[in-house]
Amino acid sequence: MDYINHFQEIIDQIQAEGRYRVFKQVNRTRSASTYGQIHWEGDLIPCTIWCNNDYLGMGKNLDVIHAIKETLLTSGAGSGGTRNIAGTHDPIALLEETLALWHQKERALLFSSAFLANEYALSTMGKLLPNALLLSDEKNHASLIQGIRHSGCRKAVFRHNDLAHLRQLLAQEAIGTPKIIIFESVYSMDGDISPIEEILDLAEEFNALTYLDEVHAVGLYGDTGAGVAQKKGVSHRIDLINGTLGKAVGVVGGYIAGANSIVDAIRLNAPGFIFTTSLPPYIAAGARKSIEIIQSSPSIRQQLWRNVNQTKEALISIGAPIIPGPSQIIPLLIGDPVRCQEIADSLLKEERIYVQAINYPTVPKGTERLRIVPSASHTPEEIEHLVASISKALPISV
Ligand SMILES: Cc1ncc(COP(=O)(O)O)c(C=O)c1O
Repeated sequence: MDYINHFQEIIDQIQAEGRYRVFKQVNRTRSASTYGQIHWEGDLIPCTIWCNNDYLGMGKNLDVIHAIKETLLTSGAGSGGTRNIAGTHDPIALLEETLALWHQKERALLFSSAFLANEYALSTMGKLLPNALLLSDEKNHASLIQGIRHSGCRKAVFRHNDLAHLRQLLAQEAIGTPKIIIFESVYSMDGDISPIEEILDLAEEFNALTYLDEVHAVGLYGDTGAGVAQKKGVSHRIDLINGTLGKAVGVVGGYIAGANSIVDAIRLNAPGFIFTTSLPPYIAAGARKSIEIIQSSPSIRQQLWRNVNQTKEALISIGAPIIPGPSQIIPLLIGDPVRCQEIADSLLKEERIYVQAINYPTVPKGTERLRIVPSASHTPEEIEHLVASISKALPISV
């Protein structure tokens, strides 16, 4: 086999479909809240960033940065190994306590990312439950799908947020069969929110465990920002909550939180936890500081929601084809990968606005979109400029 040619043909095919990805090379600028610089056709151009998941601007928060710096200087750059071999550093133990309390759970376990947390929590639980059935929302994130696949368990995919379909699939199983219902609170590409209480009702009726990905919700919803489950007052009914430290918390890392026995069994059995170097202590210290600020500062969340509402209302007023939804994510539907990329490029080139074109396989073909993400740091003027620029770039009939 001509290996080189084989891989080149795969790339050529992706290119022919108009979905060859070129990652922008970006320098985020800490001092100016939403600004960054992007390498573009040989120049470094300043721009406003509209596609970053640092929803609350915590990645640029000076108290977070100082917490990181202090721990970096006292503990050093790395963790030195897996927790199994090199032990658990104090900042990591403290962060896990904070996360467990935040989600009203007995215990939390930190992973290098939420992707790994999903993949290894689910694959490990599946392997530890005899003959389990894993029920998965059809729009679940790749990390959840990966975990389900690696579990080797039987799976049943229910139509997105479709309670009747979920009920039907649950009812087909013997009540004694172990089952896990796996779903998200905020779906990151469409920006819709799942009917958590109703799914929990079904789980209780059919004796299923529940696994909720709150990656796009932690920091943003609920009295202390613990997520949609907190906002709806149902955290205690969910068996495992998954979250990230890389989006609203502004740093990096992921975790699960749940009952001691489930989390401990995962800790003892998950290869993606056991056999990898743990996060550096300074990251844990920064994440903990960020969570402390998030918990005690509802004003940052309020600012985010003001910006989200202003952006949505302005886009609706110009007739922009946004997918309506209750969350912070605003998908602007374009429906063609080449056109979507052209619009993203023209926004960057002409207007100094960076918003990423999203195409297959992240979203289904024909639903290519610009995923607009307001943050708490955007100003009213930046929002007006975004909306005016979109109005120029899109042929919109009002
Ligand atoms: C729904 C969902 N779950 C999990 C992840 C993975 O999070 P992390 O970036 O911490 O790996 C993502 C990342 O975008 C996500 O959108």
